Amino acid sequence: MKAVVWHGVGDIRLDDVPEPEIQDRYDAIVRLTTSAICGTDIHFVRGTMPGMKEGRILGHEAVGVVEEVGPGVRNLRAGDRVVVPSTVACGTCSYCRAGYYAQCDNANPGGPQAGTVFFGGPEAAGGLDGLQAEYARVPFAHVGPVPLPDTVDDGQAILLSDIYPTAWFGARLAEVGDGDTVAIVGAGPVGQAAVACARLQGAGRIIVVDGIPDRLELARRQHAETVDFNTEDPVEAVRELTGGIGVDRVIDAVGVDAQRPARGPAAEALRDRAEQFDHERDEAAPERNPDGDTWVAGDAPTLAARWSVQMAAKAGTVGTVGVYPPQVQHYPFGEAFMKNLTLKTGNCNHRRYVPRLVSLVGSGALDPTPLVTRWSGAADAIDAYGAFDRREAGWTKVALGLDDRGAVAPGMGEEAGTGAATTAGTGHGEASTEGG
Ligand SMILES: NC(=O)c1ccc[n+]([C@@H]2O[C@H](COP(=O)([O-])OP(=O)(O)OC[C@H]3O[C@@H](n4cnc5c(N)ncnc54)[C@H](O)[C@@H]3O)[C@@H](O)[C@H]2O)c1
Ligand SMILES: [Zn+2]
Ligand SMILES: [Zn+2]
Repeated sequence: MKAVVWHGVGDIRLDDVPEPEIQDRYDAIVRLTTSAICGTDIHFVRGTMPGMKEGRILGHEAVGVVEEVGPGVRNLRAGDRVVVPSTVACGTCSYCRAGYYAQCDNANPGGPQAGTVFFGGPEAAGGLDGLQAEYARVPFAHVGPVPLPDTVDDGQAILLSDIYPTAWFGARLAEVGDGDTVAIVGAGPVGQAAVACARLQGAGRIIVVDGIPDRLELARRQHAETVDFNTEDPVEAVRELTGGIGVDRVIDAVGVDAQRPARGPAAEALRDRAEQFDHERDEAAPERNPDGDTWVAGDAPTLAARWSVQMAAKAGTVGTVGVYPPQVQHYPFGEAFMKNLTLKTGNCNHRRYVPRLVSLVGSGALDPTPLVTRWSGAADAIDAYGAFDRREAGWTKVALGLDDRGAVAPGMGEEAGTGAATTAGTGHGEASTEGG
């Protein structure tokens, strides 16, 4: 079968690889019809999340059809259409039962302290092959994949694999509640989805910060207020928009590949931090292999974290879903401490949120379709990776149509959605019915 394979920092290829087989009684083999490229995949190719093994199939977002199940999987059968959550969890340990699927005690062969297991990641993340392939082996399939109703198509469901659950989780971490003023730092797919999720959880005002004009335009189409960090100092702008107070809640949807402003007052203000940022980049990405302007590691790994802390109001909350790998050792802790901020962070507990999001989409309360701004065929996957990495205009969220049977991929190879999620429902009660 064809799959997108990691060969090294700056080196990914579309290879022919063997098809997966059932290895355990709780496994399923899923024929994947749609996959997607995520900002997390890009960290692996840029070198900002190390520990990948050569030959690993990439990808952790997919929709497909169950092909075969092991004898332990009683709730799925061949032919079921499912969305595959990015993280893998056993469903029986105390962490899974409490909803902390990303901290499962049993899914990682490295043991309970080894970390979150997800498809297509570093060895420390369980060493599982990914979902940018024609078929995948899904462990703990009786717990992971979520069946889809016919009313939820692939273009919607692919965003429920990782992007919307992460955005929902980010808004939960940030403790978004009724009437809150929320800043979302980063207008990539996760940041865009966070606009809709924060609104469904009650946000009164939403301010989105990024430096890329077409992504800010997508946020405006969702009626967020936007701040371009290349024309304004984002901390100053957010303070001004909030009567000098700052925002109640911040969602960091950028992570370790944060970039410095290229121009404007923020670039000026950060000039004397250049050396510190260089040091942080060396620490975050000791091995780098850029190819011209592609696969370039972020040149200010802690900047989104710093801005998040600075734009929060006193006693506010920062929820961090942008990824920071273990080697990142810097955080503006003193500033957060002095403002009595609440800081929450981590890998999304996907399985906790996916069923509810499937219901929200199936009922019409949420339509994520337009966030897929590009469809590519599997054959063009490597080029699509490059365009997404360079954040080219129009390439905000790239879905890969993997099924050569023509099941999916409307407008393949073309510009697809508008980027603007629509929330038809008001989501009353969503925020109050749940703990973490
Ligand atoms: N916690 C989780 O479980 C989880 C799940 C999925 C994705 N993620 C992470 O979420 C992050 C976002 O993912 P994505 O797919 O949206 O990626 P992306 O790279 O497309 O988006 C990041 C956005 O941040 C912007 N940005 C860069 N520097 C910035 C700065 N200093 N201030 C404000 N914005 C800045 C970029 O222009 C870009 O639009 C990534 O770090 C990804 O790994 C985490
Ligand atoms: Zn993802
Ligand atoms: Zn578990």
